Amino acid sequence: MLYGGVSLSIGPELLRMEPDWKCWRFGSDAFAHRHTNLSQTTGKTTKKKNFLEEPDMSLQIGDSAPDFTANTTEGKIHFYDYIDGHWAVLFSHPKNFTPVCTTELGYTAKLQPEFAKRDVKVIGLSVDQIESHEPWSKDIEETQGTALNFPLIADTDKSIANLYGMIHPNASDTLTVRSVFVIGPDKKVKLTLNYPASTGRNFDEVLRVIDSLQLTAKHQVATPVNWKNGDDVIIVNSVTDEQAKAKYPGGFKTLKPYLRTVAQPQ
Ligand code: BEZ
Repeated sequence: MLYGGVSLSIGPELLRMEPDWKCWRFGSDAFAHRHTNLSQTTGKTTKKKNFLEEPDMSLQIGDSAPDFTANTTEGKIHFYDYIDGHWAVLFSHPKNFTPVCTTELGYTAKLQPEFAKRDVKVIGLSVDQIESHEPWSKDIEETQGTALNFPLIADTDKSIANLYGMIHPNASDTLTVRSVFVIGPDKKVKLTLNYPASTGRNFDEVLRVIDSLQLTAKHQVATPVNWKNGDDVIIVNSVTDEQAKAKYPGGFKTLKPYLRTVAQPQ
């Protein structure tokens, strides 16, 4: 760590303080821009937050997902190499050998074929030691019916958890909350979720959002409330009626000029 100069090394990443002391820089410029009020004296990547004093430091939709190198149950992984050209789900869980986490990891492992079908690489993160991942995986298999089948990061120095804002100091200084990041093939953040430690996430919902994101990426459509794969979708307003007629020869419904629906494109 180097003050007065210039850089604070956080694990494999380099967080750079610009010479005018106005901002930290890594990941996207937009992400750095939101850190402009971080004081040089803080010298930390997390601290108890006073909402009057600091802006939101979290990664936001549209930001570049920061790269990192990690120790995982499948060996050393360079994140950008791992996700290379694919969709990704990066999610944290607070602690090994705990009940909610055990059910979540077992269910996510069960969903692995669904993620693979959607070209999604899954990677979990724990701040616990790599040595405890293996025996815990056995417990997961025994109690949930499926062993871990995706890499689980051992982020013991919390560098990645801090990089992604997975530690919410007013909830816990030491454990991550239950964060989910869906990352597109362009390495941009497409979805962020943060759940408290006591509430297991709904990974079917994560799949549902991925279906919606992938439809939007492929066709110019959005998805309505409670949409499920196969339901009608919404034609976005940047598509004119003339374009919609050409695109959807089978027709579409106009409920209002700004609310047009069509059968889900394949
Ligand atoms: C759990 O997985 O059950 C859990 C983990 C950390 C805090 C609270 C619950």
